[in-house]
Amino acid sequence: MYICMCNAVTDSDIRRAVADGVNHFSDLQARTGCSDCCGCCEQDARATLDKALSQIQVPLPITAMA
Ligand code: FES
Repeated sequence: MYICMCNAVTDSDIRRAVADGVNHFSDLQARTGCSDCCGCCEQDARATLDKALSQIQVPLPITAMA
């Protein structure tokens, strides 16, 4: 689904950016161009970013086995 029509950024693009390490809206903008034109997608882009960040898998720390 397109989130940013001006720059053809989809929700998949945003999830992929998060998987690649993006964790701030400004980083998302720099990487995809999302919300750098008319700005009407910003609220949806931020919500999609927040949701993707909340769903990202965080590896558990490796603990020494006794
Ligand atoms: S729709 Fe995203 S900047 Fe216009």
